[in-house]
Amino acid sequence: MGDVILTIIIGYILGNLNFAYILGKLVKNTDIRNYGSGNAGATNALRVFGVKMGLTTFLLDCAKGAVAVIIGKYILGDIGALIGGISVVVGHNWPVVLKFKGGKGIATTIGVVLSINYILALICIVIGIILIAKTRYVSLGSVTGMALLPIVTLIIERPIDVNFLIFVLILSAFAIFRHKGNIQRLLAGTERKLGEKA
Ligand code: G3P
Repeated sequence: MGDVILTIIIGYILGNLNFAYILGKLVKNTDIRNYGSGNAGATNALRVFGVKMGLTTFLLDCAKGAVAVIIGKYILGDIGALIGGISVVVGHNWPVVLKFKGGKGIATTIGVVLSINYILALICIVIGIILIAKTRYVSLGSVTGMALLPIVTLIIERPIDVNFLIFVLILSAFAIFRHKGNIQRLLAGTERKLGEKA
């Protein structure tokens, strides 16, 4: 039980390292949550601070997801990778250090899933990227890619590992929940497109 709690705590702490916020403060002396969509994530860092900051945020948020999985696996084996993965996304989305106002968890989830099942991750990433390229709605690609995680798992995994299925269902639900506002704006036709001014 102690190892489970340790894995959760390490994952959650890693998730609290929100790089859109950290880089925004360090490089621009700005709280990104007051600009653009108000989200502390890579898309908003791109929107508010530019390509270099957006890309760096994405890579670092992605990397912390992978690190949490690797540490979880080291402590607890396969189940630890899943526990570490969920914990780091929870830490990113609801960080205690930022009064629970974090990001939407896409880059972190990508890092998590890539490091556990890269084929599943790549299929969902490619579909998400195609949607973003076609529509210029990052949120549409993000939500669709994340919603596909359990569906693609059911299609490509044999035998189906129930723990892994629950894991991707949770990640998918987190992403959809965190994009509630984006989904409403997409339906209303008021969502910002990639490249539109903040
Ligand atoms: O990953 C977040 C993206 O899907 C939407 O970001 O800033 O447009 O709400 P944002």
